[in-house]
Amino acid sequence: MEQKKITVPDIKERKKSGGKITMLTAYDYPTALLVDRAGIDIILVGDSLGMVVLGYKDTVSVTMEEMLHHIKAVSGAVKSALVVGDMPFGSYNVSIEEAIYNANRMMKESRADCIKLEGGCQVASVAKAIVEAGIPVQGHIGLTPQTASSLGGFKVQGKSVEAALALIEDAKALEDAGCFSIVLEAIPSPIAKMITESVSIPTIGIGAGIDCDGQVLVIHDLIGLFERFTPKFVKQYAKISDIILSAVEQYKSDVESLKFPEEQHCFSMNSKEVEKLRKIKKIKRKKMD
Ligand code: KIV
Repeated sequence: MEQKKITVPDIKERKKSGGKITMLTAYDYPTALLVDRAGIDIILVGDSLGMVVLGYKDTVSVTMEEMLHHIKAVSGAVKSALVVGDMPFGSYNVSIEEAIYNANRMMKESRADCIKLEGGCQVASVAKAIVEAGIPVQGHIGLTPQTASSLGGFKVQGKSVEAALALIEDAKALEDAGCFSIVLEAIPSPIAKMITESVSIPTIGIGAGIDCDGQVLVIHDLIGLFERFTPKFVKQYAKISDIILSAVEQYKSDVESLKFPEEQHCFSMNSKEVEKLRKIKKIKRKKMD
């Protein structure tokens, strides 16, 4: 049976129906197949790609070309989930025209269903222009990794009254701009709850408590495949790096001790044919001599 594709209106509707939205990152075809098969609502091809897949120190140097390459792999695998393409740093801060151009590339070249960009009031006009160009936009406020250095590093945001009020304003500005949902990252739970109650579009939390309309995590954190650091808000459901390491070590040991390949991994041939071949080989060798 054909799986039903989740749409932007389906996600907006969840806020009313009360069902929690599940969102997870994926960056490649096989992982996207599994995440989609598990029934996750939204797959984000996040610019966290830079850190968890490409080994960069942060997300700032991730390029449009890298994002397009990975979104294409993910959208080719997905049958049901909504695919969000993350706009990398520098792709929407030069001009509105360039932001629309890059958002169009995500839709046309890599077949994202919508895009995400970081920032509140200061990017609302860009978000609005992209929405008006016909591309659904997901906002992202709180800890915004692309501008973490201006925020004083990877820190919880909205801890003072002024900062919390500014976040509520950011959320409202994104709602007014026509965003269909907002990611809330590293925000104290009571503030995330207030934001969630003050906007009509769904909030999707990462380190923002239980009261958001949905939750998102980076898949490498969830499965234990990123070892550099694990943020407090991560729940690790598996330790895949141990499984991979053990499998690779066993393979190395089996090759070195002639335990691999075994009979069942090899292709056999009729022994008479092998004998014939040996004779031909001998003749050829004699001729060459
Ligand atoms: O890039 C990313 O993975 C993200 C999530 C942390 C929401 O923006």
